[in-house]
Amino acid sequence: MAGLFISFEGIDGSGKSTQAKLCFDALVQKSIPSLLTREPGGEVIAEKIREILLYSQDEVLPQTEVLLYAAARSQHVRKVIEPALAEDKIVICDRFVHSSIAYQGYGLGVDQESIWQINRFAMGNIFPDIVFLFDLSVDAAQQRSQERAQSRESLVNSEKSKRDRIEARSFEFYQKVRNGFLEMAKDPRVKILDATKTPEAIHDEVISIVCQVYQGGRNQ
Ligand code: TYD
Repeated sequence: MAGLFISFEGIDGSGKSTQAKLCFDALVQKSIPSLLTREPGGEVIAEKIREILLYSQDEVLPQTEVLLYAAARSQHVRKVIEPALAEDKIVICDRFVHSSIAYQGYGLGVDQESIWQINRFAMGNIFPDIVFLFDLSVDAAQQRSQERAQSRESLVNSEKSKRDRIEARSFEFYQKVRNGFLEMAKDPRVKILDATKTPEAIHDEVISIVCQVYQGGRNQ
């Protein structure tokens, strides 16, 4: 088996980025070759597309969003993820294709089959072996995001410290996104984690699942 590809998913404020970093640090600690990356971004051109997607002052239409996320993903997959997997690394990605289906599909109402089709082209042969879904109520997630934004603003008074374009969306939007993620958890590769648990307890669950799948792959 060449490497292992793991994505971390959930609504904004679910704690997935913190857990992705904790997971990466634990793997490095165990001397397992690993890479931590994120979407949108993770590669030079993809990071430029991220700027447009998250901070553009002008309207970005839902269909355009789908295409821009997919374009960023294509760069990221071919230039960063695929080479790392070929080197047998564990790739930890903060968000991947499930975010496109949840946000642009369930959230904004873009046809889901079209999103899958565009993304099949963008991803090529790459698909996550494990998708961790950090599940949390929209109320709790928004409260966390607000607290984070407040502490960010008191630290850096820059334009970027303001809530980004997408985080500014409504409660109803996030409700649809959360339900969309849960709907996709019918796929056994998607592992739902209760994001209200302590960071330590969640981390233990993540590591135990990663080690199980990693060892399973090695023994094949
Ligand atoms: P996020 O990782 O939450 O950024 P930050 O750590 O700065 O909060 O991702 C940025 C936003 O991008 C997030 O609100 C979800 C959105 N997104 C999509 O709508 N579709 C996608 O395909 C991806 C990858 C992200």
